[in-house]
Amino acid sequence: MEQYHSGNKVIDETMQGSATVVEAPENEGKKLYIESYGCQMNFADSEVVASILGEQGYATTRNLEEADLVLLNTCSIRDKAEQTVRKRLKAFHKVKDDHPKLKIGVLGCMAERVKDKLLDEEKLVDLVVGPDAYRDLPNLLEEVETGQKAVNVILSKEETYADVNPVRLGQNKVTAFVSITRGCDNMCTFCVVPFTRGRERSRNPQTIVEECIGLYNNGYREVTLLGQNVDSYLWYGGGLKKDFEKASETAKASAVYFADLLKMVAKAVPNMRIRFSTSNPQDMKDDVLHAIADHENICNYIHLPVQSGSSSMLKAMNRGHTREEYIALIDRIRNIIPDCAISHDMISGFPGETEDDHRDTLSLMDYVKYNFGYMFIYSERPNTFAARKLEDDVPHEVKNRRLQEIIEKQGKHSLDRNKARIGMVDVILIEGNSKRSDAQWCGRNDQNTMVVFDKTGNEQPGDFVKVRINDCTSATLLGTIQTA
Ligand code: SAH
Ligand code: F3S
Repeated sequence: MEQYHSGNKVIDETMQGSATVVEAPENEGKKLYIESYGCQMNFADSEVVASILGEQGYATTRNLEEADLVLLNTCSIRDKAEQTVRKRLKAFHKVKDDHPKLKIGVLGCMAERVKDKLLDEEKLVDLVVGPDAYRDLPNLLEEVETGQKAVNVILSKEETYADVNPVRLGQNKVTAFVSITRGCDNMCTFCVVPFTRGRERSRNPQTIVEECIGLYNNGYREVTLLGQNVDSYLWYGGGLKKDFEKASETAKASAVYFADLLKMVAKAVPNMRIRFSTSNPQDMKDDVLHAIADHENICNYIHLPVQSGSSSMLKAMNRGHTREEYIALIDRIRNIIPDCAISHDMISGFPGETEDDHRDTLSLMDYVKYNFGYMFIYSERPNTFAARKLEDDVPHEVKNRRLQEIIEKQGKHSLDRNKARIGMVDVILIEGNSKRSDAQWCGRNDQNTMVVFDKTGNEQPGDFVKVRINDCTSATLLGTIQTA
């Protein structure tokens, strides 16, 4: 089974992003049941969808049985993710036997990739809506109400949902996602995202700042700025990133880059923690590192996917940097932000990967000693460059054995990193009860590691507390609140 890892926590792909069933305040009217799979961006998009449909009188429910509309926000990143969605759709289809009026829709990357095949060949759904077409949902639902099937998978040059105020669906009311870019232009040869989410465009910084201030005023204490490649953020009045060169000189002169945006947000909400994801090594500039170092409220944590430690694999993946350049970036991070945690994404068994390439991956991991990572077996995705031009030639057992070696190494590094924090006092933002016990809180430190500690009775979710770290596993730190 394909797995992905965070520290020593193994999560079945079917739970990636933890497929949470989400809920918003009750309302009169129709009921929407929405499930999200895949990346954080999908969770953020579901909140945009809940907002658009909320205006139409839909309230969200956790109870499938009482839903009028079921929406599945889907992921196409690996084949396993799509299989999970298909299984789930079949289960929803069965519910329809007892509730014939129930409408079922597919949103997100799989809607974009598989399009009307989901309507015609598989007859599983009534509605197919791609990631840039959510504003069209009210019209599409009208069509569906008249018994027709509806589909809109048009990708946009402008859409960023900048003016939509998302309905917060997360379990805690402390941390939230704010999306800042959509799409990706990087064209990594293994990746389906540029096809499913279209060309890269950035959101108006003013609307981002306003959303963060609104969150703070509603009690939130942490935002994660989201994009497929946040370092490439570029606002020059709207439009695609690739059209920037054609912009007027005045638009170019007043352009807002990612480091500028980070500083704007950090100043606007000084008592809020700011995180961001995902960074791309080829686009990450030192001004971003200095922004992190200079602002107390920008967290010392960078998710910096590398995919492989071998320069020849990185070239074949079109990652835009070599092993040496990545190592140089790691060195600059360590110099500029001494206490910065770093995590990674890694792929085992990309076409042509040799044992030497794999050893390069392991030795890169030894060099960086990542705090944690997400590790995957290569999964060929239709239409990508790799699928069209490269043979998927690493046998499954070899891919799997290499993945296990990568996972094992990461487990050791995570444990070492966590052990090194024993004795320190970390500031933790309390997110809620720990999974194991209502007598304990859980929350993260600046470096994004989960910390669990006993309640004292004087604190609540949303509080920042000082916790002395006294024990750990490879995934979690354990500590005691410092009252003095
Ligand atoms: N920049 C994106 C990356 C999206 S995909 C972001 O914001 O996270 C997340 C991770 O999935 C990638 O970094 C890569 O490690 C993995 N991945 C993407 N395509 C894959 C494929 N075809 N097979 C296996 N893993 C893949
Ligand atoms: Fe995919 Fe590479 Fe973009 S992994 S999302 S094409 S940065």
